[in-house]
Amino acid sequence: PVVKELFGLANLEEAIRQSYGLRKVVVVPGDCDASPLVKRELGRAGARALLSSMNEGDGVAVTGGTTLAEVAEQLNPPHNLTMKDSWFVPARGGLGESLEIQANTIASGMAKRVGAGYRLLHVPDLLGKEAYESLVHDPNIEDIVNMIRQARIVVHGIGDAMEMARRRKLEPQVTEQIRKEGAVAESFGYYFNEDGVVVHKMRTLGLRLEDIMKTETVIGIAGGKSKAKAIHAVLRFGQEDILVIDEAAAVEIVTQL
Ligand code: G3H
Repeated sequence: PVVKELFGLANLEEAIRQSYGLRKVVVVPGDCDASPLVKRELGRAGARALLSSMNEGDGVAVTGGTTLAEVAEQLNPPHNLTMKDSWFVPARGGLGESLEIQANTIASGMAKRVGAGYRLLHVPDLLGKEAYESLVHDPNIEDIVNMIRQARIVVHGIGDAMEMARRRKLEPQVTEQIRKEGAVAESFGYYFNEDGVVVHKMRTLGLRLEDIMKTETVIGIAGGKSKAKAIHAVLRFGQEDILVIDEAAAVEIVTQL
């Protein structure tokens, strides 16, 4: 409560915006770790941030995860909005999670809500080297991967590295290796240390770091005190434009990091 008095939400937004050089920061009240209602509000704020960044005809690449699933659920465009020439694609291939929170599901769900088109990437995670090499050269896959790389907007979640390693069922020795390398964050299939340096990447098809560096608008959406370190690491990576987080993560970032 003391911290809350010291830092109003608008002050938190401005402090974070300035210290990481972002275009826009939105902080919703509360802590996602403590309440599903806060996560819903985070989703709503994320959906608003996406809609206000989108123009008709834009391509949007999205990642998976429970937070992005909430953004899709809360995407309620105004009635006069037409997005029939826009399109949604998953940012990466499947990352071995349940169907509801896979990037393909989220991309198609968002597209339907705004009346846009979508393309899916039906590629499993944990691709062996050979499977990967042959899929990269498949014309249909090449086609969608090219679309993904042309997206004007990328919307992504941010996860704690060790939790995501567990969720993605990385092999124990790989998990141990990235832990030793100091991974604290995972986003779009890449693992980052606290300085925002990539220490590991998943062998999945789709968006690459060099694509993210060229993307016009990158929107990161994440909440919960437990994700503060991960959010900080991804911000240090330096490609975010718009950040939507909750108060618990914001306070932790401003006071601890
Ligand atoms: O890459 C990060 C994860 O997609 C975040 O997942 O929103 O379920 O915490 P989450």
